[in-house]
Amino acid sequence: MTTEKSSNQMWGGRFASGPSAIMEEINASIGYDRKLYAQDIAGSLAHAAMLAKTGIISADDHKQISDGLNTILAEIENGKFTFSRKLEDIHMNVEARLADLIGAPAGRLHTARSRNDQVALDFRLWVKNELEKTAASLKILIEAFLIRAEEHAATVMPGFTHLQTAQPVTFGHHCMAYVEMFGRDLSRVRDAIERMNESPLGAAALAGTGFPIDRHMTAEALGFREPTRNSIDSVSDRDYALEFLSIASICATHLSRLAEEIVIWSTSQFNFIRLSDAFSTGSSIMPQKKNPDAAELVRAKTGRITGSLVGLLMVMKGLPLAYSKDMQEDKEAVFDAAESIELALAAMSGMVSDLTVIEASMKKAAGSGYSTATDLADWLVRELGLPFREAHHVTGRAVALAESKKVDLSKLTLEDMQSIHPQITEAVFGFLTVDKSVKSRQSFGGTAPQEVRRQIKYWKKRLIKA
Ligand code: ARG
Repeated sequence: MTTEKSSNQMWGGRFASGPSAIMEEINASIGYDRKLYAQDIAGSLAHAAMLAKTGIISADDHKQISDGLNTILAEIENGKFTFSRKLEDIHMNVEARLADLIGAPAGRLHTARSRNDQVALDFRLWVKNELEKTAASLKILIEAFLIRAEEHAATVMPGFTHLQTAQPVTFGHHCMAYVEMFGRDLSRVRDAIERMNESPLGAAALAGTGFPIDRHMTAEALGFREPTRNSIDSVSDRDYALEFLSIASICATHLSRLAEEIVIWSTSQFNFIRLSDAFSTGSSIMPQKKNPDAAELVRAKTGRITGSLVGLLMVMKGLPLAYSKDMQEDKEAVFDAAESIELALAAMSGMVSDLTVIEASMKKAAGSGYSTATDLADWLVRELGLPFREAHHVTGRAVALAESKKVDLSKLTLEDMQSIHPQITEAVFGFLTVDKSVKSRQSFGGTAPQEVRRQIKYWKKRLIKA
């Protein structure tokens, strides 16, 4: 029979009886913070090495502590470790096991340290690693878009405002709009890593410590740029978690807009794209259906990711400095959001790479809805010297006439055109096709295929360094 230790026993005599079942239930975080085991052990190894180097513990104690910690790491990784709720959290579970393994020297590990800086460190390391993963996933998605953009730099489609046909654009250009969006997400990730890249270890409970510790040594060993500068802030700060959740929420919002477009584009009414079988499902009752479930679920994940952000903001908003136990509630929100954003990014990369572009439908739709009306107005300005406002008016009359004759602008006769404005010549028809319209928009960032190709080149180069 094993005698189970409890965290109360570890604190010593002040608490006479064990916590009630309800207290244990509300207090314990081991159910989820066990995810931090690798960070917790890495932090303890760095702390112990520093304690030995500065002469706070002996070399022999250090050896036993680090051997013990490595044994625990292996036990956890091989599924041989028994987590105990009585021991509250990952920090106490590891420490108690260390005492089992090596006895008295285990008690020296916590010198000049508190669970407050310990958890701040573990969680920071975890979030930092997650941000790196997010960056890698974003790069994969951007690369997928760059490939599609290159294939379709000259594929025309309708551009929309208010979801009403506005002007023809290229599908490559539309893809590159998402590259810009996810590129901003990527740069936000990089900024956040830079800002959070400071080690809180050594802040102890909140006030620092009287022991001659070397915080620069542990910061460096754990891969941080430098130690944090204020011990109070070090244990009360969860900005890095909030920043991760904000970045994830903005990114999820981008994914959701894309998901919505995929849902719309794959309807039989639009028929712009076909999703691969891998990323769609059939209906159990309607045999003709192919549902964009993956896109819909990506759209839905946005709700829970943003929910996590709002949840943690609410947890933090009224907390006095420094540490309060409320902050234990930071983890599940972040873990859930991290899992969701990773899955959503991976699913979207798959959908973007696999979807079939139905060029003929896009082209047909691109020419409908009088999408080249602006080109007519521009021609009137350029060739006849009309002020743009007047040209807009004349074009409006041309659209009305085309509408009444149930034809496209390009199908009006020269006589029709001249009835609207006598100076219009045959040459105007050279500017009313979709391809001409698209090719003419060569302004920086415009939709002309050559401009889209230039932006693709820019991003390919930028992505290497991103
Ligand atoms: N499980 C705690 C958390 O996640 C660890 C820190 C506990 N610190 C304390 N002073 N009770 O926040």
